[in-house]
Amino acid sequence: MYIIDGKEVSKTIKNKVKEEIMVNNYKPCLLVIMVGNNPASLVYISSKEKACNKAGIEARTIMLPENTSQKELIDVIEKANNDKTVHAILVQLPLPNHMDTKEVIDTIKPEKDVDGLTSTNQGKLVLGNASIIPCTPKGILSLFDAYNIDLTGKNAVVIGRSSLVGKPTALVMLQRNATITMAHSKTKNLKEICLNSDIIVCAVGKPKLITADMVKEGAIVIDVGINRVYDTIVGDVDYYNVSKLASRITPVPGGVGPMTIASLLENVVECYKIQKNIK
Ligand code: GUN
Repeated sequence: MYIIDGKEVSKTIKNKVKEEIMVNNYKPCLLVIMVGNNPASLVYISSKEKACNKAGIEARTIMLPENTSQKELIDVIEKANNDKTVHAILVQLPLPNHMDTKEVIDTIKPEKDVDGLTSTNQGKLVLGNASIIPCTPKGILSLFDAYNIDLTGKNAVVIGRSSLVGKPTALVMLQRNATITMAHSKTKNLKEICLNSDIIVCAVGKPKLITADMVKEGAIVIDVGINRVYDTIVGDVDYYNVSKLASRITPVPGGVGPMTIASLLENVVECYKIQKNIK
């Protein structure tokens, strides 16, 4: 078994982004908008800001109280849409229950939609001509590239169907010619599907959902889960036992997580270049 080292690959990508910004004297700015004070979101935002600053990206944050109305949030987004000094907008999810996430996200101008979550950008992803690929799927593709993993003709299962991870991951892997099965909480024969898969991507948020009896010898396992169990962070895969069977596997932490942030930096620069008409 070989570890897919997301920490290492993400460092290389972050350095590349930093260099591109420096050499070209780009001045990209990311605006993060957060509503409420979800503790996990606060941690994510803080690591996004730190990574931006290190790479030479200005990171601004607007924190809004939990009881902000949807109209007030939309007004903030529209102001940022029209602000020429803001090139990328990220509305941290999840939003409070009184908001319609889809409606809020679709307020973001597609060219500033750094998460690739607007209907326009998700639609382009389906059509295979995406300009902004959501950060986690993009990070997973970068891991496949870094380890020369060719998806052509491979049987792959993507477990989880969120707009942020599962669905776009299945689409980008399909684009790379994998044969995709999308599995989710209502899937009946998950074990059988996994045993038939050369690649398993799990993005559900359930510790030990994927156990060794579900994994074919030599399979590649990508664990997107981030679960707090007592004082430690674990993924969705029973890493100890599955790693004995897999040919390659991402650890948690240190696998997909750091790649999501590296892809965010790439996407901020992508948004900047789209707005400045830089090819
Ligand atoms: N919440 C957890 N991960 C993400 C992410 O990548 N983007 C946004 N907008 N919210 C998140």
